[in-house]
Amino acid sequence: NTIAKQHRKLYFGSATNNVEFVNDTAYRDILQNNRMFGQITAANSMKWGSTEPFPGVFTFDDADQVVQFAKTNGQILRGHNCVWHNHLPDWVLNGTFTESEILSVVQRHCGTLVGRYRGQIYSWDVVNEVINDDGTFRETLFFNSSGTKYIATAFHTARAADPFAKLYANDFNIEGPGPKSTAYRNLIKDLKKEGVPIQGLGIQSHLVVGELPVNIKENLEAFTKLGIEVAITELDIRMTLPETPSLLAQQKKDYETIISACNEVKGCIGVTVWDFTDKYSWIPRSFAGEGNACPWDDNLQIKPAYFGIIDGF
Ligand code: XIL
Repeated sequence: NTIAKQHRKLYFGSATNNVEFVNDTAYRDILQNNRMFGQITAANSMKWGSTEPFPGVFTFDDADQVVQFAKTNGQILRGHNCVWHNHLPDWVLNGTFTESEILSVVQRHCGTLVGRYRGQIYSWDVVNEVINDDGTFRETLFFNSSGTKYIATAFHTARAADPFAKLYANDFNIEGPGPKSTAYRNLIKDLKKEGVPIQGLGIQSHLVVGELPVNIKENLEAFTKLGIEVAITELDIRMTLPETPSLLAQQKKDYETIISACNEVKGCIGVTVWDFTDKYSWIPRSFAGEGNACPWDDNLQIKPAYFGIIDGF
C-alpha cells in the first residue's frame, strides 16, 4: 500500500545508556547511523537520581556524553525527564517537604537541568507518569506535598529555562482509549486553560505482543485535537518467553500497527524505541518471564519486528 500511504516525515530514534554506546562498539556502530536513528533519548542519564544526587549538587557527565553523542551524529534529542517518582536520589525520596519547599526543589531541579541544554533539546518530558491507570492523580511525594501544583511549576520552570524545547507530559497505558487517556485530555485542557505551557504528550507504548489496544489512531487524534503534538516515546513490544516464530511474526505486525497509527495522525511526530536491542532492554528485569521486546536481538541482529517498523513508516 505504498501508493495509498501518505509518507510523512516521522523521526525514528532510540533510548540508550552510556555504558552501551561507550563500551559496545558493535552497538555503537548501529546507533550512530543517522540514516537509521535520527533521534536519541537518554534512558537514565538525565533522570533526577543521575543529575542531582545531593541537594543543589548537579552531575551532568553522563547526560553531557549522551548530548555529545547525538550532536556528533546529527541526531535530535528528547530530554527525559524532569519530574518522576522513580529514580529519585535518597535526599528527595526520604525527605519531608512542605508545599513551598517541594515546589522550590522542583524549580531548582528542572530549571538547572533544562537550562543546561537550552536550545539543544527538541522536546522535554517535563513530568513523567503523573496519572494512575484509573485516571486519578498518582500520589507521589510531589503530589502529596503540593497537589497538582508541582506540575504547573515544572512546566513554567522548564519554559523559562529553555524557550525552544517542546514541553511534554509522558506516560504509559495511554496508547488506546480508556480512563487514563481521558484523564490526560482533561489534564491538558486544564493546564492550557491556566496558561501552563504544555505542547506535547509522550505515549510511552510499552506494549505486549498480540495485545495492542484498538483505536490507537483515533485516540492519538483526540489528543492532537487539543492543540498539542504526540510522539511514541518508549516503544517496545514484549512477549512471554520462550520466543516462537509466531510470536515474532505477531510482534512484527504490532510494530507496524502502532507506527502506522502514528504515521496516519498529523500531529504524531516521531517514534522512539526504548533501546533497539534485546541485549540492553529493561523488560526482563522488570517483567518476570517476559522479554525479546526490541527490533534487534541479543546478538544485535535484526528481527522480523525491524521490517514491521519499515512497513509502518
Ligand atoms: C527504565 C530504564 O530503561 C531502566 O534502565 C531503569 O532501571 C528504570 O527505568 N518508563 C519510563 C522510563 O519513563 O524512564 C523507564 O526506563 C521505563 C518506564
